[in-house]
Amino acid sequence: MRIRTGTESPVKRKTSVLCAFCFEDNVPIGLGKLNKKIDQTISQSIKEINGQKGKISIIHSHKEIPSDRILIAGLGKKNKLNTDTIRDVTGIITKKIHELKIREFSIIIPDKISIKNDQVISAIVEGANLSLYEFDLFKKEKSTNTELDLTLLTSDKNAQKIIKNSIIVSDAVKFTRDVANLPPNECPPMKLGDIAKKIANQNKMKCTIFSKNEIKSKGLGGVTAVGQGSKNEPKFIILEYRNGKKEQKPILLVGKAVTFDTGGISLKPGLNMDEMKFDKCGGCTVLGVMKAVSELKLPINLVAVIPSVENMPSGEAFRPGDIIKLFNGKTAEILNTDAEGRLILADGLAYGIKHYQPSMVMDFATLTGACIIALGTNVAAIVSNNVKLASKIKTASEKTSEEVWELPINDDYMDMVKSKVADIKNLGMGKAAGTITAAAFLANSVGNVPWVHFDIAGTAWIQPSTKKKSYNSHGATGFGVRLVVNYLMNQK
Ligand code: BES
Ligand code: MG
Ligand code: ZN
Repeated sequence: MRIRTGTESPVKRKTSVLCAFCFEDNVPIGLGKLNKKIDQTISQSIKEINGQKGKISIIHSHKEIPSDRILIAGLGKKNKLNTDTIRDVTGIITKKIHELKIREFSIIIPDKISIKNDQVISAIVEGANLSLYEFDLFKKEKSTNTELDLTLLTSDKNAQKIIKNSIIVSDAVKFTRDVANLPPNECPPMKLGDIAKKIANQNKMKCTIFSKNEIKSKGLGGVTAVGQGSKNEPKFIILEYRNGKKEQKPILLVGKAVTFDTGGISLKPGLNMDEMKFDKCGGCTVLGVMKAVSELKLPINLVAVIPSVENMPSGEAFRPGDIIKLFNGKTAEILNTDAEGRLILADGLAYGIKHYQPSMVMDFATLTGACIIALGTNVAAIVSNNVKLASKIKTASEKTSEEVWELPINDDYMDMVKSKVADIKNLGMGKAAGTITAAAFLANSVGNVPWVHFDIAGTAWIQPSTKKKSYNSHGATGFGVRLVVNYLMNQK
């Protein structure tokens, strides 16, 4: 989608569809007076939608003004407005334009509302750019996703810059979706490595990938154990982006990339097992963030560590009862081979912290089904050892409408992952606090470095209970990319 700014007044704008928003008071925001006849028609037709959120009314101008049509879109109640409403409604408008096979449209940026202009513009760009996303790589008949031209009518001098940045971020979300949606036969760990190399080359990042033998010889025992059951060998992917001060410690991102999670010897039931192709979403989110940050050229140092494996049952697979040694030096008793994510993440975290001495670390993983039981499919769980950092993450979450809810962690939870025969075990206490005990296992690799863990099991892809949003239709959502980039942009 091509998006640019225009400064003409709506009455002078020549466009196929002139779009304006309105609240339940039925006054289109920023449209102004056009012409007597048209103004009357508009006020009649918008009474029918009554500003209801997501409702749309379109009238033809019959050459009374330069624009061919006028579209009014409801934002709902004024006092309930947030950026997500704007993002969602813009997606609805864009889908409508696409459905009508129109190639070009203009949106009047609503001003004098409760939200800052830069956030309004970002939400509009994201809603427009994400709403037509389809994963059609494997279909002969491609979606008729013709290039759309959108002009944002505003006098804001910064608009062009905000648009450019928001396109980079929303393109990175689409990139994350594209990788996450790849089927498991087409996306073994090696493929993720190739994709990482490609974005590294395009954006001047350093990319290092450890092979199965290197993973083993470096003592990454968690990755080795989980990966050993598959003929698709594990890869340990590292991306380095350096554009901050030399002496500035990097921020570390770690992402779980299980390209398919059968559960291993502790085999999962068959129902919906196909969805476990999405068990690489944490790693895909991290890749998307790296792409966005390097294209935005943010003045920071950032390192990504993505342990990638396929969790398969086989004669070579690791078993319940095994005791393995993790990179953090601790031994772990395996009680369930389906609790594999924490094993590879424990290695990713410990390796990244030891080698890069980060100022802080964030990890992303579709880690526990318990997260869905606790929070459903619209809110991700976060667990942190640092109140200040968690609070900054919550701010970024509120700004981007990628919702998170913090769960507690303390020594009692740490005790729940202690083992009788090894230092720790990869199961907590049955179903109790499953998301937190998984995080407690990870905390053993983190120590005192400020850390936030994101469990995105519910939010990484669209599930039957997911609330419908125009900019998120099916498959992977790219959850986390917008939130983390927002956090990193405000990091000085
Ligand atoms: N990838 C799954 C978690 C998951 C399940 C995410 C369903 C999204 C939807 C993870 O590897 C796993 O299997 N976790 C187990 C842990 C348990 C054995 C302690 C789970 O949640 O059942
Ligand atoms: Mg599993
Ligand atoms: Zn898993």
